[in-house]
Amino acid sequence: TLKLVVIGGGSSYTPEIIEGIILRHDSFPVTEIVLVDVEAGKQKLEIVGQLAKRMIEKAKKPIQLSWTLDRREALKQADFVSTQIRVGGLAARSKDERIPLEYGYIGQETNGAGGIFKAFRTIPVLMELAKDVHEICPNAWIINFTNPAGIVTEALLKHSPHKKVIGVCNIPYNMRHSTAEILNTKPENIMIEFIGMNHYVFGRKVWVNGVDYTTEVLAKLKEGLDYSPANIVNLGWSQTFIKATSLLPNPYHQYYFQTAQVLKKDVQALKENGTRAEVVQQLEKSLFELYKNPDLCEKPKELEERGGAFYSDVACSLMDSIYNNKADVQTVNTLNNGAIPDLSEDAVIEVNSVITKNGPQPIVVGSLPDSVKGHIYQMKAFEKLVIRASITGNYEDAYLAMVMNPLIGEEADSKRLLDALLEAHKDYLPQF
Ligand code: G6P
Ligand code: MN
Repeated sequence: TLKLVVIGGGSSYTPEIIEGIILRHDSFPVTEIVLVDVEAGKQKLEIVGQLAKRMIEKAKKPIQLSWTLDRREALKQADFVSTQIRVGGLAARSKDERIPLEYGYIGQETNGAGGIFKAFRTIPVLMELAKDVHEICPNAWIINFTNPAGIVTEALLKHSPHKKVIGVCNIPYNMRHSTAEILNTKPENIMIEFIGMNHYVFGRKVWVNGVDYTTEVLAKLKEGLDYSPANIVNLGWSQTFIKATSLLPNPYHQYYFQTAQVLKKDVQALKENGTRAEVVQQLEKSLFELYKNPDLCEKPKELEERGGAFYSDVACSLMDSIYNNKADVQTVNTLNNGAIPDLSEDAVIEVNSVITKNGPQPIVVGSLPDSVKGHIYQMKAFEKLVIRASITGNYEDAYLAMVMNPLIGEEADSKRLLDALLEAHKDYLPQF
């Protein structure tokens, strides 16, 4: 048997992972899937469960599917546990995005103050999950999609008893695909060397079938091409920035290197359509209307309007390679273990890794380039502070995380913003 448990199974993203499992069923023959959600997500879980059932039936795959609110029961005999939860739902995300804007700061669910609070809400919940996994299905791999994915993965690896945890994100996947588009080739032919952390990762080298095409890609980026998932503005990059750094930025870098412009756009967007959370609320509404249709037996195209589109490809190829001990290279969030000697061994980085049945083995990256070394150090130190505060619930720790975040920094504002967010999210912050 091969059992997958999806934590946050009522998510509108679930048809993606179901499709991914169906498509890979020959090499990765899942026999059982359990979708798990919480009381608040019960209705969504029922709708998604029914759709998933129709998808599996239509594909004629021998996969036993069920859905439940009983997580501990679901975990029995699990081989893989994927997590895609949003503690407090989109309402909490909306606060993460709106409140910082009120104080003149970027409001984003994985960056700045919003990202800090998403971590504060999420880490205690996933810590409990990891404990359950360790007790009930100790051999299972946790594949974590829950944001901020890098920080959450590091928190679990450091503080939970369960050590089989891998973090994933679709950004490296998107970068590979858009680079393929730029170079007019297939994504399978592209290899990018990534350096840094989740949502703060750069591409340093690009190879096409083993031939170095970095210069060509950077030159094209200078022509104004860029790639952004649906949730992030796309301002493009200046020629000077690309030339000077000689790195491929990821779309989230706009928050750090074009802060004033992004902030302006976000304020404007807020007036016009609300924040991304509110846009996603609308999107979800129409997605769930589609999902309810008993004639729908596949993942609808409309799901691609979500920023996390294609994440299932990342998750399923990862599980496939672990299961089949493939030893291929994939980009994941895992322990540094010396791949970047400038960072501590127990830091989680987003890095190309060889994937075997023992999990990811990161490929050596070497020292960080001077151009971005300072920023990566600061971001990693900041992430450590967030994790510490998430665990201790100590006010000063939380304040430090705010002050040391490059998007906040200002001391008095950090405190005001911290107090406002602590109050707004108090129902989901048991540690504070
Ligand atoms: C990106 C990120 C994900 C994030 C998603 C948000 O692709 O990599 O980590 O969850 O966008 O998309 P959404 O549709 O929820 O705004
Ligand atoms: Mn991501």
